[in-house]
Amino acid sequence: DNSSPQNVKKSVAKSDPNGMVNILGKLEELFGLAIKQAFPEVKDFQVVVVSTTPNFGDYQFNGAMSLSKVLKTLGKSLNPRDVATAVQKSVPANEVIETLDLAGPGFINIKLKASFVQEQLSLLVMRGVRPPCGVEKKRVMVDFSSPNIAKEMHVGHLRSTIIGDSICRLLEFLGHEVLRINHVGDWGTQFGMLLAHLEDRFPNFAEETPPIGDLQSFYKESKIRFDSDADFKKRAYACVVKLQSHDPVYIKGWQAICDVSRREFQKIYDRLDIKIKERGESFYQDLMKKTVQLLEEAGVLIEDEGRKVMFAPNIAVPLTVVKSDGGYTYDTSDMAAIRQRVHDESADWVIYVVDMGQSGHFETIFACAEVAGWLDRKKTRVEHVGFGVVLGEDRKKFKSRSSETVRLVDLLDEGLRRAKEKLIEKERDKVLTPEELESAQQAVAYGCIKYSDLAHNRIADYVFSFDKMLEDKGNTAVYLLYAYTRIRSIARTANVTDEQIKKAVADGIPLSHDKEMKLAKLLLRFPETIVRLTFDLCLHPLCEFLYEVSTAFTEFYDVCYCVEKDRTTGQIVKINMDRMALCEATANVMAQCFSLLGLKPVQKM
Ligand code: ARG
Repeated sequence: DNSSPQNVKKSVAKSDPNGMVNILGKLEELFGLAIKQAFPEVKDFQVVVVSTTPNFGDYQFNGAMSLSKVLKTLGKSLNPRDVATAVQKSVPANEVIETLDLAGPGFINIKLKASFVQEQLSLLVMRGVRPPCGVEKKRVMVDFSSPNIAKEMHVGHLRSTIIGDSICRLLEFLGHEVLRINHVGDWGTQFGMLLAHLEDRFPNFAEETPPIGDLQSFYKESKIRFDSDADFKKRAYACVVKLQSHDPVYIKGWQAICDVSRREFQKIYDRLDIKIKERGESFYQDLMKKTVQLLEEAGVLIEDEGRKVMFAPNIAVPLTVVKSDGGYTYDTSDMAAIRQRVHDESADWVIYVVDMGQSGHFETIFACAEVAGWLDRKKTRVEHVGFGVVLGEDRKKFKSRSSETVRLVDLLDEGLRRAKEKLIEKERDKVLTPEELESAQQAVAYGCIKYSDLAHNRIADYVFSFDKMLEDKGNTAVYLLYAYTRIRSIARTANVTDEQIKKAVADGIPLSHDKEMKLAKLLLRFPETIVRLTFDLCLHPLCEFLYEVSTAFTEFYDVCYCVEKDRTTGQIVKINMDRMALCEATANVMAQCFSLLGLKPVQKM
């Protein structure tokens, strides 16, 4: 048949034959076919299946109500229950579904076949955690972190760094080609005053690398002079002009200043294990000229008191593309960047991880890029992944006791100190070697900072609290890292290896206890969970999943003996290898979640 292009795309995507099955996706496919069969007149119906609590089966299709409404518009009057019955009857034969039960006004409860779950779980044990199959590969550019040269990297940039890195990890795991871009602010007017100050402080900066040392105070000194000294201000403007005309002496000075900042940023990235490629505003220097020229030719620039601005339809605030002195702005560089990314780099997907305060800016950039004809949002997915501000425990702007802003290095140091306190409080120093204690300290410190950020809906403002994030109960990094090491230690204390487990369960895992079955089904929801994250790039559902896994594991472990010991001698008398396999599968899924979130679990803690 002449199926829609969407269907064509889907069949191309079955790339990784060893990938994990996205069960929810598979069910949606089956229900899509059923609807097509039962109601061929309905076109482009968005099939949604949700996972449910075991009381209602494992999954549920609840689209009968909206389907009934669609049918009504087509002149067919059927109540939701009849619609559901027709859909239920049309679900094609398959190896996934055990039963389909009609409930309420037209819900269809779906129960998975035990044999299917057993088979998928063995595959998970034998092959390890693999990316889901059926993902269409894309070229993605992720613009994140992006601090400004000569200014302190602040907590907003920290959020962007953590969220952006996790999005990259997710997309890389799914098999996309990911470019991690650090759009640093390295070409702004602040360089005028910095360079003018450099001329005075280190006159031979062109011959010898200036020992700037503390760029923060250097910035402050030059700012004070800029605000109070008219001559200095004039010189600062002249320096910008020289820099922007690529005067080699001033380019040298600019580079020296950038290098100092770069080294500072890198310290943070190294500690948090962040990989990113610097491609700052200066990268777009020549492209900005071209960008302005193209917009000029397209006739979309409007004169406004000497400036050249560009309006997007239905947006009140225009972009300032050229300033009255002929200079370029943040807007100009982002217009150049979006064209470069979509046009020159042929990105399929461009993601900007920047605070919510800039949502208006990006909305306008995207709309203007469409007006200019550089972007077709039906072909290229562009999105601003925004996040709320960081608040202190008093729910006011986050700051340190001594100063207005919090230096990120200080914050990370405090994290390390508090993590160590926590570990000593739990007497871990008595059982771990000094090296193990240090690894645990770092895992906890950086893990809790990342996790507490990622576990919240990113849109909301976020209260930064070491006390909260270091709690060892509830959905926290500390709890999960502990849970993980405990699971890992089960096989270690029983003295069985991964190979032995695999060998023992090669013929299948029975999952006869209902807690075993429940845990297995949950683990198999890993693929659908991560695929869904790509819909809106909110990462907190992954943290919820991780927590659910550790809870389900506890329920299982409480009632299902994995290792039986002699009561009097304490000697191991029996090892249940099927359950060992479940332990290993759980730990492997958790480890993969940690890796997507940028957490580094330790074997001992
Ligand atoms: N440097 C900017 C800031 O600190 C963020 C840049 C974000 N990326 C972009 N393409 N505009 O606010």
